[in-house]
Amino acid sequence: MRAIEWDEAVRCVRLLDQTQLPEREEYLDITTVDALVDAIRRLAVRGAPALGAAGALGVVVAMDEARRDGWDAARLEREVDRIRDARPTAVNLAWGVDRVRAFMGSGPEAVLAEARRLAAEDEAANRELSRLGADWILARTGREKVRVVTHCNTGALATTAWGTAYGIIHELHDRGVLGLVHADETRPLLQGARLTSWELTQDGIDHVVQADGAASSTILRGLVDVAIIGADRITANGDTANKVGSVALALACRRAGIPFVVAAPSSTVDLATATGDDIVIEERDGDEVLSVGGVRNAPAGARGFNPAFDVTPHDLVSAVATELGVVEPAREDDPRIMERVAAP
Ligand code: MRU
Repeated sequence: MRAIEWDEAVRCVRLLDQTQLPEREEYLDITTVDALVDAIRRLAVRGAPALGAAGALGVVVAMDEARRDGWDAARLEREVDRIRDARPTAVNLAWGVDRVRAFMGSGPEAVLAEARRLAAEDEAANRELSRLGADWILARTGREKVRVVTHCNTGALATTAWGTAYGIIHELHDRGVLGLVHADETRPLLQGARLTSWELTQDGIDHVVQADGAASSTILRGLVDVAIIGADRITANGDTANKVGSVALALACRRAGIPFVVAAPSSTVDLATATGDDIVIEERDGDEVLSVGGVRNAPAGARGFNPAFDVTPHDLVSAVATELGVVEPAREDDPRIMERVAAP
């Protein structure tokens, strides 16, 4: 199963529509910028590394559409910018667009080739960071079976393949050292209950889904040995933006004395941003909070507050694993610590 891929016969980006999971496995064939921007905003495709691939392949879609509809160069640039800006927090989206943009002068096939390289690199990075992250967690916890809490969805659905935080969980499972996984349901759009549980079920991994509000108590009661999350943007000092609710796990981990681990490919590291104070947090429609599964449950007139992400300060981050290594922001307090595990 791939959340995102290029179909050469149809000449489209094919997306597994994540808004329909787990009830239906439906695919969207994306051939226009409008359709891609809509899919990104509705979270039909989501998760930082998958957004990087969507951005890169989206430039091919835009170039094909420009040829079909006779756009001039300025219009094409504006449409590519619309893809780049469709969601603000995950740095991978802009990164993916910018990486292939440099090839636009050489035509759509050159852009497509670079987008495919980007996707292949993402899968390799996820597998390597999963090995490194699992090694670090086993060494730090000293457990024979590691019990894990995770938040949101970070598996194959959120990436080009394999996963980040989920990749580490999968790696621990493959090594026979994984205990029970607690997957946060992840309000308001239930990426944990709908998507992570779906992936864990398919992979035969023993898990429970818990309300987000249960996570800190699960940690303080000693029911897990580590929290592992993904990231949408990691700034130079190790501050980490991820799905709203993540920082509650970090605070509880500090109190409980267990590690809080961030897993991400180096494409999620944003060295141009010094600290989390400068991260733009996407604010989504308040109605998403006032309903569950599209059914409204708040009284008429209630207003929702719906930041999609939060920032965990680096002093609460025990480790960040990328494919280039593991750093320990909480221990070192180095304002440029992420340079060591970011692409040169
Ligand atoms: O709003 P989403 O579903 O795109 O948020 C996704 C997350 O917060 C993930 O944890 C993050 O992008 C890492 S995915 C490997």
